[in-house]
Amino acid sequence: MSMQKTDKYPKIQIQLHWLTFILVMCTYLWVWLAKYVLTPFPGVDHFFWLMHFFFGALVFVFTCIRFVVQKLLQRYIPEVVPAIPKWQYWTATVVKILLVVVYWLIPLAGYLYRCQKGATLDLYVKVFQARCEVDLSSAQMWHAIHVNTAYLALALIAVHSGFVLFNHYVRKNNMLLRMMPKKRGS
Ligand code: HEM
Ligand code: HEM
Repeated sequence: MSMQKTDKYPKIQIQLHWLTFILVMCTYLWVWLAKYVLTPFPGVDHFFWLMHFFFGALVFVFTCIRFVVQKLLQRYIPEVVPAIPKWQYWTATVVKILLVVVYWLIPLAGYLYRCQKGATLDLYVKVFQARCEVDLSSAQMWHAIHVNTAYLALALIAVHSGFVLFNHYVRKNNMLLRMMPKKRGS
């Protein structure tokens, strides 16, 4: 591959990172709208539940893709300059790995919850039946995993972006700039 190490993450990684970020935020937004805001409007809340499932599934897919891309392009990732303490580097790395793991686990748990509850998927033109054994007690377990991990993941995002913003505004190193898209025309 004719690719050179630059002062930024490879473009594809930048695009995948921010696309996944938007998908993740929308997935939370859809479920909160469906569950807490749009309950008086049954037709509308059904639509936002479907959006929650659809965006959640996309988060799963993109988390897989970026995991592979990250492994393939690892050697093109630029260093943070000036360097940060080793223990902070490793802590931040563990947080990033956890972010990948939770965004696999959350959609998977959401799916298993629905399936083991025996829920149908009503897509207006066709209703899909659940294709797994109905088991209400394991459905309840996956429900707890889905919801608790989803809120835990918000805390991980806060730690991850808080650390990035600290490096950008206080230490004034290049950590965030490496992950920002190139400005038009430059
Ligand atoms: C990254 C992906 C996802 C995130 C971040 C996410 C997040 C959440 C959150 C925060 C809630 C709880 C809302 C609350 O009670 O306050 C929730 C509920 C729910 N999610 Fe997801 N979800 C994701 C993917 C999915 C997928 C793929 C499915 C199913 C195919 C799904 C099915 C559900 C269901 C059925 C509930 C309702 C639980 C209830 O109200 O008792 N989710 N989700
Ligand atoms: C849904 C929310 C987020 C998730 C799941 C997430 C996940 C990740 C992951 C897995 C990486 C490792 C590189 C990669 O795989 O592409 C990463 C790197 C990075 N993220 Fe995020 N991120 C999120 C939100 C944010 C936000 C809001 C910011 C900015 C404030 C941010 C800034 C960065 C930066 C600058 C890097 C490179 C850091 C480094 O090289 O140490 N991320 N992120």
